[in-house]
Order: sequence, then structure tokens, then C-alpha cells
Amino acid sequence: MKGSLVIAAASAALASAVATPAQVEVRASNSSSGSTPAVTVKGNAFFAGDERFYIRGVDYQPGGSSESADPIADVASCKRDVAEFKKLGVNTVRVYTVDNTANHDECMSMLADAGIYLALDVNTPKYSINRDTPAESYNEVYLQSIFATIDSFANYDNTLLFFSGNEVINSDNNTDCAPYVKAVTRDMKQYIGSRGYRKIPVGYSAADVSSNRYDMAQYMNCGTDDQRSDFFAFNDYSWCDPSSYQQSGWNQKVDLFSNYSLPLFLSEYGCITNERKFEEVAALYGDQMTPVYSGGLVYEYAEEGSGYGLVQITGDSVTEKSDFQALQSALTNTPAPSGDGGYNANGQPSECPSESDTWEVTDFTGQQLPAIPIKANLYMKQGAGKGPGLTGKGSQNAGSASTGTATPGSGSVTAVASNTASGGGSSSGSGASASSSASSAGQSLIGGDLGLGPVVCGAIVLFSSLFGAALI
Ligand SMILES: *[C@@H]1O[C@H](CO)[C@@H](O)[C@H](O)[C@H]1NC(C)=O
Ligand SMILES: *[C@@H]1O[C@H](CO)[C@@H](O)[C@H](O)[C@H]1NC(C)=O
Ligand SMILES: *[C@@H]1O[C@H](CO)[C@@H](O)[C@H](O)[C@H]1NC(C)=O
Repeated sequence: MKGSLVIAAASAALASAVATPAQVEVRASNSSSGSTPAVTVKGNAFFAGDERFYIRGVDYQPGGSSESADPIADVASCKRDVAEFKKLGVNTVRVYTVDNTANHDECMSMLADAGIYLALDVNTPKYSINRDTPAESYNEVYLQSIFATIDSFANYDNTLLFFSGNEVINSDNNTDCAPYVKAVTRDMKQYIGSRGYRKIPVGYSAADVSSNRYDMAQYMNCGTDDQRSDFFAFNDYSWCDPSSYQQSGWNQKVDLFSNYSLPLFLSEYGCITNERKFEEVAALYGDQMTPVYSGGLVYEYAEEGSGYGLVQITGDSVTEKSDFQALQSALTNTPAPSGDGGYNANGQPSECPSESDTWEVTDFTGQQLPAIPIKANLYMKQGAGKGPGLTGKGSQNAGSASTGTATPGSGSVTAVASNTASGGGSSSGSGASASSSASSAGQSLIGGDLGLGPVVCGAIVLFSSLFGAALI
């Protein structure tokens, strides 16, 4: 055990040392432990090798959402918590914030040795899209930070996926942020391709807002392949024990999403209205749901005062709460289904939603998206370089915002690279174009004050309880 850990750490360190941004042909290293083969997307499902992969996970945010801390940079706390993850029986942890200047080799190796993948939010409180001023905050300083985070994690086989945003849209009246969220997703996919990394899935984690959830899901899955997400996730606190597949309304969501062609999972779940028994686990991994869903992540591992924690951390010690045992036995009693779970290999992309009371997107319609900020094209070719970490100056009022509309090409990965001297990813860029017309420059159109105050979109965790656990 100990020996293999050392080897894993050494080889991960080597991988990150070798895969410098300038050497784009270097691919992800082989898994040292063999317990976390790289996960791929096929149809509406994840696969680890030939096996259907279900996310059986927990959200890992010790210290809470208010504290901008990186839980996987600290080896001692990582070791402490990996032991609990193993006991719990999870295969994935979601981390909301990382320091892209820190070294993560040891913690990532410990997770890999325990058979655990990482689902990672690339945004930080200072480097994120601001839902009040989305156009201004979508700039090259921001993209440099999230691309540097991709560089830090792309060579670990147990990096499962990247979240391009978390709950940026939390109301119908800020659905106008959606084109920016989708542009960021597109840019991350392009960066991964341009840098020669393996195809690490990129997608968005939506708030538990019933009115625009389906619109948002459709939106992230419409348009050309380079624009579409690799998966879609949403937070869902609507199953409150005692409940059932019908009573929770989960059956209606399964019907609604039955033709959705991307992997779908819950990025947060675990209602605390009553004592948690985690009865939803049996439903989530049962054969009624697995044709459409690929599991989920329980909110959350560490108690931070809101009542959602499975454990209480005090200094170096961890105390398991009753919820911990409840989830542990629910997972133990619910093995992953055998076979392929009835996934759909051949789904079709969605139609882009049209404007409505719940979908107030007017500046970019249909498949139109903001063009990548011109200066950010350089990162595609040269790499992002060193990230700003958690103590940088922040990006929301920095850089030069996007000034144009990217018209989707025919399956091309690049939206605008062909248009600039410095650009040029690994793809052809044929048919892609960017207009620099001011019509969609956005700042004055979109950056208006919604009266929500200086809320940072990318890193805030809002509970669905705020919005009610209404139907679909
Ligand atoms: C992975 O392992 C295979 C088989 O051992 C080997 O052929 C290949 O070169 C390895 N790839 C890397 C990136 O180390
Ligand atoms: C799913 O697709 C099938 C076949 O195209 C169609 O009959 C059905 O109405 C669709 N369901 C939904 C919920 O869109
Ligand atoms: C946006 O909608 C939310 C409810 O979802 C409401 O609280 C807020 O006041 C609205 N903001 C504006 C500017 O209308």
C-alpha cells in the first residue's frame, strides 16, 4: 500500500513536470494504480474503460463556501479525509475551489489509490463570471486563470471532469448570463483540445431552479459540437425523506430528460428537511433512473454550520454524524447496476430554447455566442502559463472583454482563432468566424445592475431550499 502510494506520487510528479504547456503532444500518463482509468463520455453516459461509470460521490468543501481554501493542496487533511471517503464508499469528490499555483500530486495520488475521482470547479471567488456583469467579467484574465487550472489537473487520470460554472444563473432574470457560461464551456473544451490533453469532460452545474432548469439543459446541449457541453449537472434537493420516486417528482424529471443526449447527474443532493436516510440512493442507482442519470454527489462532506455535513471536523479529528452512517449503508446496499444501465448511445443534440418569460436571453440568440476575448487566443497556442492562485488581483474588472459574436462553424473547435494572428488551436477552424461588430459587445446591454449586489457567480453555493423544491 505504502509502496504503491510513493510510486503513484512520483509518477504523477513526473507527469506534471513533463507536460509543460509547450509540449502539447504529451498525453495523460497511465494510471499508476489502475483503479481510476480515465473516464470518457459515450452517448448519455460515462464510461471507465468498457464499464458504465456512475458518480457515487460527495461534495468536498471543508471550511465552507465562504472560505476560499483548497482542500486538496493540504496533504495531512487530504489523508485524513480520504480515509473517510473510503469508509463511506464513494468514487468521486467534488471540489469547489483550488489554488492553481499549489501542488496537488500527493492528494490526487491518495485519491487515485482509493479509487476516487475528482470533479473540479475551475472558478474561484476572484476568478469567475459575475452574474451582474457577465460581459465584463468574461475576459482574458479570467480565462488565463481557469486554463491554468486545467493545466494543473489535466494529467491526472482521476480528474473526472471540470465544471465550467456553478449556479451562475439562479433566477429567470439572470438567464442572460447563459451565453457567457456556454462560451466559457466552449473555450475550456477548445483549450483542452489545443493543448493535446485527453478529452476531459466539461459541463455546467445548474442551481435548483425549477423554472429554467430544462431550458438551461437544452441550451448547454444545442448547437455545434464545439459549443455543446460534455455533460449537464444540476443541484436537486427535492427528495426529502420520507419520500418516493413519485412523491419527490423525480419520475417526472426522468420523463422530461428521457431524450437528453448528454450524461446527466446531480451535482448536489441531500435534503435536510427531515432526518436523512438517503433513501434516494436506491432510486438514483436503480434501473428506472440509470437510463437517464449517471448518479450524483451528496452535499456535503464537512459540516459548516448549515446542517448538510456528514462529518464534523475539529482540528485534526473527524466525527461522523448519523447522516454519515445513513449514506454509507445506502451506498453499500445499492451496488452499481450491472450492464450498461440502459443508456442511450445515439441521442440527438437539443434545440436551443427560444426567448420566453423564463428564458430572458436576447443578446445572443440561437447558436450565437460571445466570441472569445481576442487576447485569450494566445493561450490556445502557447499555454496559459502560471496561474494567479487564490491571492491574485481577481479578474472581474480586468482585461478586455469579448467584443463580438462567434458564429458557430461546422463542427470546428475554434470559434475565432482563425481570425487572429496569434490564435490557432489544433483544429482546422474552417467555417468559423467572428464578427467584431459592436452590436453584441454586451457590456452596456448586459452589465446592468440587477440589484443583486456584487455577487460572485462562480463560487457560491446556494441551496435549493431557498427556491423551494417545487416540481420540474
Ligand atoms: C501506457 O501503457 C502502455 C502499455 O503498457 C504503453 O504502451 C504506453 O506507452 C503507456 N503510455 C504512457 C503515456 O505512458
Ligand atoms: C423522445 O423521443 C421519442 C422518439 O423520437 C419521442 O416519441 C418522444 O416524444 C420524446 N420524448 C420527449 C420527452 O421529448
Ligand atoms: C430577479 O428575480 C428574483 C427572484 O428570482 C428577485 O428576487 C429579484 O428581485 C429579481 N431582480 C430584478 C432586478 O428584477
